[in-house]
Amino acid sequence: MRKIKNINTEIIEIDNINELSETQQKLINAAREAATKSYAPYSKFNVGAAVLLDDGKIIKGTNQENAAYPSGLCAERTALFWANSEFPDKSVKSIAITALKNGKIINSPLAPCGSCRQVMLETETRYNNNMEIILDSSSYFLIINSAKDLLPIYFDGSALS
Ligand code: THU
Repeated sequence: MRKIKNINTEIIEIDNINELSETQQKLINAAREAATKSYAPYSKFNVGAAVLLDDGKIIKGTNQENAAYPSGLCAERTALFWANSEFPDKSVKSIAITALKNGKIINSPLAPCGSCRQVMLETETRYNNNMEIILDSSSYFLIINSAKDLLPIYFDGSALS
């Protein structure tokens, strides 16, 4: 017997920044500001992430590259690990992600890498709430309501219990 399951992912596309909430706009601006401080001498792809905690605090992170390439880390994980280290009791409500190429905001949104999706998912299960993911670009924005939408079949702690 063969069963076919279709997975439905809701992705909201918005082309005017004014259609985003004030908080979403603030988070995007924080990610853009962070991206200017990224350390990416090898790829020259400067990624910025900004994480919104449940008390309204914003934590920023950037990609950190290394001459030993795999030793570097993406902006999303830098921001999430820093937020979860410094404020382990605060849940993460949203993350905004952007990138600069030659100093200019990318013209279509960056799709977070698989390892970052996995860490976003762990953060959701850790705090038992979904994390809104806001993807920035110079032409449009994408809003995804949960890391599970980006990683519908996932590995988590329940597999280990
Ligand atoms: N990068 C991120 O920071 N986030 C992603 O989701 C994808 C890729 C970084 C890693 C590396 O420094 C550069 O972008 C090129 O891959």
